[in-house]
Amino acid sequence: MMKNVLIIYHTQSGNTGAMARAIAEGAGAAGASVVLKKAVDAVDKDLLDCDVVAIGTPNYFSYMAGMVKDFFDRAWITVREKMADKPYVVFGSYGGGGRQAIDTVEGICTGLEMRLITESLAVQREPTAENLDACRELGKKLAA
Ligand SMILES: Cc1cc2nc3c(=O)[nH]c(=O)nc-3n(C[C@H](O)[C@H](O)[C@H](O)COP(=O)(O)O)c2cc1C
Repeated sequence: MMKNVLIIYHTQSGNTGAMARAIAEGAGAAGASVVLKKAVDAVDKDLLDCDVVAIGTPNYFSYMAGMVKDFFDRAWITVREKMADKPYVVFGSYGGGGRQAIDTVEGICTGLEMRLITESLAVQREPTAENLDACRELGKKLAA
């Protein structure tokens, strides 16, 4: 059955955005129906309607980007009882730090009892060709 894959992300300098597009490409090539949205444009219904979601955030101050937090703030009340077992993964770019932003998103998703489908993907600064291949592979997993 065709999967409805939602990819929600924020990016400022384009690194997490490049990852989001590669994930979308991988999922689309694997036959999924893909919705790719900036977090600022995403609403609770997007999350309710998808079969699987990938959430992308850069590491800003060792936390998720404010716009991703804003999405969860807006969506929380409607989605909170309805996310149990929804498959998800997190991805994003960081600078000199590491996975803290990803961890904060996983924390929210754990609270929602969502199900992490594979290890979340962190990339340092601009994704390399190899990183983008890993993103496409991740997209395929979302579609499977
Ligand atoms: C406001 C701001 C805060 C940041 N804080 C961190 C940080 O705490 N740790 C880190 O590893 N990188 C930090 N960075 C670097 C970004 O995570 C990095 O440049 C990343 O590639 C940006 O992704 P984007 O191009 O998708 O916006 C920060 C960048 C900005 C603009």
